[in-house]
Amino acid sequence: MASSSWLPVVVCALVLLQAVPAARAARAFFVFGDSLVDNGNNNYLITTARADSWPYGIDTPDHRATGRFSNGKNVPDLISESLGSEPVLPYLSPELDGDKLLVGANFASAGIGILNDTGIQFANIIRISKQLTYFEQYQHRLAKLIGPDQAARVVAGALTLITLGGNDFVNNYYLIPYSVRSREFSLPDYIKYILSEYKQVLRRIHGLGARRILVTGVGPIGCVPAELALHSLDGRCDPELQRASEAYNPQLEVMLAELNAEVGNGAGGNGPVYVGVNTRRMHADFIDDPHAYGFASATVACCGQGPYNGIGICTMVSSLCADRDQFVFWDAFHPTERANKLIAQQYVSGTTDYISPMNLSTIINLDRHLHD
Ligand SMILES: *[C@@H]1O[C@H](CO)[C@@H](O)[C@H](O)[C@H]1NC(C)=O
Ligand SMILES: *[C@@H]1O[C@H](CO)[C@@H](O)[C@H](O)[C@H]1NC(C)=O
Repeated sequence: MASSSWLPVVVCALVLLQAVPAARAARAFFVFGDSLVDNGNNNYLITTARADSWPYGIDTPDHRATGRFSNGKNVPDLISESLGSEPVLPYLSPELDGDKLLVGANFASAGIGILNDTGIQFANIIRISKQLTYFEQYQHRLAKLIGPDQAARVVAGALTLITLGGNDFVNNYYLIPYSVRSREFSLPDYIKYILSEYKQVLRRIHGLGARRILVTGVGPIGCVPAELALHSLDGRCDPELQRASEAYNPQLEVMLAELNAEVGNGAGGNGPVYVGVNTRRMHADFIDDPHAYGFASATVACCGQGPYNGIGICTMVSSLCADRDQFVFWDAFHPTERANKLIAQQYVSGTTDYISPMNLSTIINLDRHLHD
């Protein structure tokens, strides 16, 4: 008797409790790009570009591999933390449904580049045009959940991150000597070509409603353990790959300024749409002076084999370092969680040498009223 009369009250309270977080949902977050930001989409695909087995994820709370190319968190996880949100789910995860859609989605897929022919050796991966198609599909699903007006508002008020371009060098132009692309283009012409393609991708993300888009440059690709193992006898970075990222990044900055002039103001009519992130500079700091950041090594990968631990992939039979926090690189290409934390800190509060025209804390402050 007593229990049945209480039941409607309890149900009511539960409905209210569920409605409140949805209405005051934190800012949504969308992620596009490659393995630096993939948090598990490739687990659902038939590809060799995957991070779903031990020791990947060794420093997560349950020590399990999630598909992130790290011993723990990656940059998107840390940005979610700074937004006060839970980590975004991979778009292909069956758990991404219902209220979880309000948190955003991660469309990134390890191995991809700006060009469709980048990463062909990894077979079945989600190329950037497909990631954008999934973004449209996501928006239809969100509109079904909360209505089209509210869905458009979530997307316009969201933060977006795209990390793309590194693979167009290491897994395409420089993948093999005399690659198809390197016979077709000189390096300066190749950079112009990929940036013109990238510009269309970035325009399209804006066209799909995103109004704050963080766009990362290409890191010091000549200094990653994989390239040191292949090209360096003395531990110095590969000059050709370094030259590529040195030439690419300033032109990317110019392109972002052009796009900002073209599309006008960002979220809520304030500030820029496109924000450039100088990940090369962030990473170069560690390489120039690892000890200043508490690292023992910025050249040797924690997990791998061969010189610099930079040959092949990280597996359960690789040589594995004991203290991951001492290493900049987790595997032959990807940073450790600790390096990612320092990188993410620069996103949040770096000067314009690291992120421009403004950092994430300035953006969050500017957009506060959109998320009240
Ligand atoms: C890449 O492939 C997609 C889908 O097939 C196509 O729409 C797009 O134009 C291609 N991009 C380039 C640069 O060829
Ligand atoms: C970046 O963030 C900090 C706050 O964390 C702020 O003081 C600083 O002025 C911001 N902008 C620049 C350009 O440094």
